[in-house]
Amino acid sequence: MKIISLINQKGGVGKTTLALHLTTAFHHHGYNTMLLDLDPQSSASEWYDSRGDEFPPVRSIQPARLDKTIDQAREIDTDLIVLDTAPHTEVTALAAARLADLVIIPCQPKIMDLRAMRRTADLIRLVKAPAFVVLNGVPHQGTVADEAAESIETDLGLGVAPVRLGYRVAYDRSLIAGQTAQELEPQGKAAQEIEALYMWACQHVNMLAQKGAENGQQILARA
Ligand SMILES: Nc1ncnc2c1ncn2[C@@H]1O[C@H](COP(=O)(O)OP(=O)(O)O)[C@@H](O)[C@H]1O
Ligand SMILES: [Mg+2]
Repeated sequence: MKIISLINQKGGVGKTTLALHLTTAFHHHGYNTMLLDLDPQSSASEWYDSRGDEFPPVRSIQPARLDKTIDQAREIDTDLIVLDTAPHTEVTALAAARLADLVIIPCQPKIMDLRAMRRTADLIRLVKAPAFVVLNGVPHQGTVADEAAESIETDLGLGVAPVRLGYRVAYDRSLIAGQTAQELEPQGKAAQEIEALYMWACQHVNMLAQKGAENGQQILARA
């Protein structure tokens, strides 16, 4: 069983958006997935309430219940757990980072977000977690994302994923309806970005792009 944690000490950067989209993408590719919502604001759990579908399951839990809940998930053959964390909670973020096979740090290429990244970078360094920044809400034009990526790599020493998510209304709109962008607009740009992020994440947690694919039938995901 693998664990992917979404962490950033700043709010509003896309942790819940990416957590829901990734969990659902793994579900659609045949994996037993579960999202554990560690944020008292419960945005991910509210999405689940409005979804009208049992899958992928989203459980709102207290940080103190994290280890026990992970043990229980392992017992029911869960393939992947996604941890959605709250901002401004170092203890929970540390626990989520320690448990993770992959930490994804969503960050918007804006000066306020970049300045706020130092706390998250320090926390990742402390636990030596395998972590990558995913630039989110990237404007359709201009070089701001390239500049942000360079600054994150050189000033903060964090890796930046090659996949970027643009600023697209499909992300917000789909979540309001208890869906994801891939479900709302399967042919849309947001859906393509999420598929690329999914493939990239599969590679980093060493999972096949499709569960149950035999050798030769399906190659390991290539980002
Ligand atoms: N790439 C994007 N394009 C447009 N809106 C986005 C994008 N990513 C996130 N959002 C929106 O920004 C808001 C904050 O995102 P959220 O995932 O809740 O952040 P966090 O969990 O880090 O606080 C939400 O309304 C969400 O739908
Ligand atoms: Mg959130």
